[in-house]
Amino acid sequence: MTLALPVLEEGTLCTEMVEELHAEIRSLARVRDAVILAHNYQRPEVQDIADFVGDSLGLSREAAATDADVIAFCGVHFMAETAAILSPQKRVLLPDLRAGCSLADTITADDVRRWRSEFPDHVAVGYVNTTAEVKAELDYCCTSGNALAIVDAIPENKGILFLPDFFLGAHIRRLRPQREIEVWMGECHVHKGINAGTVNARREEYPEAEVLVHPECGCAGQLLYETGLGDVDPAGLHITSTEGMIRLALSRPTNTFIVATEVGILHRMRQMAPEKEFIAADPTAVCNYMKTITLEGLRDSLLLDQHAVTVPDDIRDRARAAIDRMISIG
Ligand code: 13P
Ligand code: SF4
Repeated sequence: MTLALPVLEEGTLCTEMVEELHAEIRSLARVRDAVILAHNYQRPEVQDIADFVGDSLGLSREAAATDADVIAFCGVHFMAETAAILSPQKRVLLPDLRAGCSLADTITADDVRRWRSEFPDHVAVGYVNTTAEVKAELDYCCTSGNALAIVDAIPENKGILFLPDFFLGAHIRRLRPQREIEVWMGECHVHKGINAGTVNARREEYPEAEVLVHPECGCAGQLLYETGLGDVDPAGLHITSTEGMIRLALSRPTNTFIVATEVGILHRMRQMAPEKEFIAADPTAVCNYMKTITLEGLRDSLLLDQHAVTVPDDIRDRARAAIDRMISIG
């Protein structure tokens, strides 16, 4: 589904309103036997009511494992679809149908079929940021957290079609230069905008900081290239998924981190490591799709049973095979 970029209504909720909504949501979730899953880019007050907050891989695993009747999915549409594919017997609710994804919109199932017909012997690996129809055309699904492991699990003599994120694909290609990898030219409008100039300016402001970069970022390649040229300190640069960033923030002895991804993740980092300092590489890196999910929307979705996300059986079975191959690898 292709959706226009939603315009954000920035309402501020006072502490009492947040507490009231949290109480209401908790009680509705109990009545409906619902688990609340939230992505790392969700609004702080939505993350705070979730049973589980994580990256797209972690959310898929939680959706597959839950015993709850209902999954209230605070993330974007392709993530809710993945939950519906993994847990077809559950009711998956997406609180706001405007929660699309500019990256998922860059490729259709027809595009994949056409591309595959040009490279009939290649193995198709697709990022989880795709529609269920696209996943149904893939051999393997992957996330930013396991893309390298998936590529490594494919026999060396096989060529790979990697879709749809160009920057993640280019990153994998840099890490595995011996592999034959064709990369789709898709991009996410939020990450594409985080550029190396901005990150390097932050580095000058905070020379002691380490830098955490999401592989979807337009700047990832340039930063690595500069590292290779000796312009950037290689020791302090990490290219990793949102959950990988959280792990590094907790495990590295460094006290200051520059974070190059969507700014929603800063909330969880600051909660988990309050003694450390986290600086947004680009404070304007906001995913309006993610931010369509609000506490009021989540409350209404549990109260009014809206909006159920379903996937037709034939698409689900084929998409599930690609996701299961991913989950069995890592
Ligand atoms: P993660 O898999 O790292 O959570 O990323 C998902 C996403 O949409 C990034 O923009
Ligand atoms: Fe999609 Fe980009 Fe938003 Fe992630 S940040 S959900 S890739 S539009």
